[in-house]
Amino acid sequence: MEGKECRNNGKVVLITGCSSGIGHCVAQGLKVRGWRVFATARRPADVERLQADGLESLCLDVCDSVSIQSSVKAVLDRTNGRLDALFSNAGYGQPGAVEDISREALREQFETNLFGALELTNQVIPAMRRQGAGRIVYNSSVLGLVAFPYRGAYVASKFAMEGLADTLRLELAGTGIHICLIEPGPIMSRFRAHAYAAYQRHVCAENSPHQERYAAMEARLLKEGPAAPFTLPPAAVLKRVIHALENPRPRARYPVTVPAYLFAILRRWLPTPMLDGILRRSGGGGRR
Ligand SMILES: NC(=O)c1ccc[n+]([C@@H]2O[C@H](COP(=O)([O-])OP(=O)(O)OC[C@H]3O[C@@H](n4cnc5c(N)ncnc54)[C@H](OP(=O)(O)O)[C@@H]3O)[C@@H](O)[C@H]2O)c1
Repeated sequence: MEGKECRNNGKVVLITGCSSGIGHCVAQGLKVRGWRVFATARRPADVERLQADGLESLCLDVCDSVSIQSSVKAVLDRTNGRLDALFSNAGYGQPGAVEDISREALREQFETNLFGALELTNQVIPAMRRQGAGRIVYNSSVLGLVAFPYRGAYVASKFAMEGLADTLRLELAGTGIHICLIEPGPIMSRFRAHAYAAYQRHVCAENSPHQERYAAMEARLLKEGPAAPFTLPPAAVLKRVIHALENPRPRARYPVTVPAYLFAILRRWLPTPMLDGILRRSGGGGRR
């Protein structure tokens, strides 16, 4: 580990959504490897907790432009303008059938999962351009590659993230700034608890033709422990983030978990009706 610490010594990374799950794990893991980690969270209580854990932490709400601008400025002030990497991780999943998703719910989903990530990206690129180097890593999803029933808002936001990242990679070729996508399948975190809260906020099951399926979906969201086969701990994502940040030749895409590898292949080779059949069955009518 000592060698790694020397290699990364002084390298600065900004991470969003570190209050729990993947963001928290990646922040701790990169700090151990000698990165100077700015672990951000949107609630002051979480920032205090992260500071108590020995991390440099700031308040950053990706839905708030002022918060984005002031936290990037605070990082650059503290590091004399240096910022080597961004791990754009904050996000949540809005469950619900597409026909039950309001414009407001979809807007909220995109504000967090996409618009915040875009605005933050545009705030950090100038520092990376000055350095002639940088890594921007997005936490996308297997649902940025294929659709699953009852996750349309989330799927749309992650497909959009994939499109934005792919475009950025083309536009930034030759600048020394690398763009990477992490594409996890099921990972143990607070994701389902947060999804359940979003479901309660925006979906009215009683009036929906999908009411029966929602009962199965609710059970999945409220289940303790892994709810899907092949679920991995957040450390599986950390491993791929380390490659994206530290390898001299980072990859454009990093699937994580068996389903992510599998669906990345299937979507290329199967005709749509066959892929649809597999995706419908995999969703288990909301159960998975
Ligand atoms: N878990 C999975 O199975 C899975 C699979 C594929 C991709 N992902 C992606 O992984 C990322 C992290 O999710 P996770 O699994 O670690 O779930 P998580 O434990 O729910 O963590 C999500 C994080 O995002 C933060 N967040 C939400 N809205 C925010 C906002 N407006 N501003 C700043 N932070 C905000 C949350 O903060 P609060 O605590 O304040 O809400 C939390 O820290 C997400 O982008 C998710 O789409 C997860």
